Amino acid sequence: MTRTPGPPSAVRMDRLSTDDIRHLKARGVPIVMVTAYDFNTASIADAAGADIVLVGDSAAMTMLGYESTRSVSLDEMLMLTRAVHRGLTHPLLVGDLPFGSYERSDAQALATAARFVEAGCDAVKLEGGSAERVARARALIAKSISVMGHVGLTPQSTGEGAAFRVHGRRAEDAVEILDAARALQDAGCFAIVFEAVPAAVAALLVPLITVPVIGIGAGAGTDGQVLVFDDLVGLSHGHSARFVKRYAEIRAQMVSAVEQYGAEVRARSFPAPEHQYPVNADELQRLRVLLSSEQRKA
Ligand code: KIV
Repeated sequence: MTRTPGPPSAVRMDRLSTDDIRHLKARGVPIVMVTAYDFNTASIADAAGADIVLVGDSAAMTMLGYESTRSVSLDEMLMLTRAVHRGLTHPLLVGDLPFGSYERSDAQALATAARFVEAGCDAVKLEGGSAERVARARALIAKSISVMGHVGLTPQSTGEGAAFRVHGRRAEDAVEILDAARALQDAGCFAIVFEAVPAAVAALLVPLITVPVIGIGAGAGTDGQVLVFDDLVGLSHGHSARFVKRYAEIRAQMVSAVEQYGAEVRARSFPAPEHQYPVNADELQRLRVLLSSEQRKA
């Protein structure tokens, strides 16, 4: 198996920090964020120059085939996070706190977030802007754990199979998003994801927020964008949200590659001589002799 080794974490001198992310916003440089779930996707995001890599709980669907983000466990997320960490040199690494792992109490949130930090994360992300969620964020930040907020559509509060919908179409709902984002910002969050918010609404709200706002389905007026890796490279299949742009069709290429492999195996044209290990002819002859005497013994 081919494995392109990244440098060991001890020499990750150029890893971006949360301050670097803030500086990108201050300089008006759009922030590029993408999810990753394993060593290979992380090293691809790294090689492509992403600023932030999120081990999203969207792994529930992309990696594990669950119906909803609510189904992924903390241990599953940590295993994926460690793999992503091994593939990164430059981007800031954010781990998504999975459903059920941080809501109960500050102590629970701290214990969970500490495990993401041990797994190599520079920050964690939590969903929602209720008073309780803001308190959880504040508790983590008080212990020097950087937190990214997430408002608008928050899939963890959208039950199994329930429809995903756009948030902030009514003026009052848009003000609620702003209040939640400001509360998270005041609690010390270094950045906030806006998901599924009309572009014109996000464009009015973003100038009222001082920390970087990263959009997914929130138009071009945010400080940066995030997409799910599998969506952007065309690895996922089935229904895609309106905000997804597929920059490649990797799934079709992969299916075709495996089909060709299958056809060649069935036609016995793979492996060809160049895929086989040679052996010295004399050794082969000696082996024949040895085997014929073994056969005589049997
Ligand atoms: O889990 C995820 O992939 C996310 C992004 C959509 C922001 O939370």
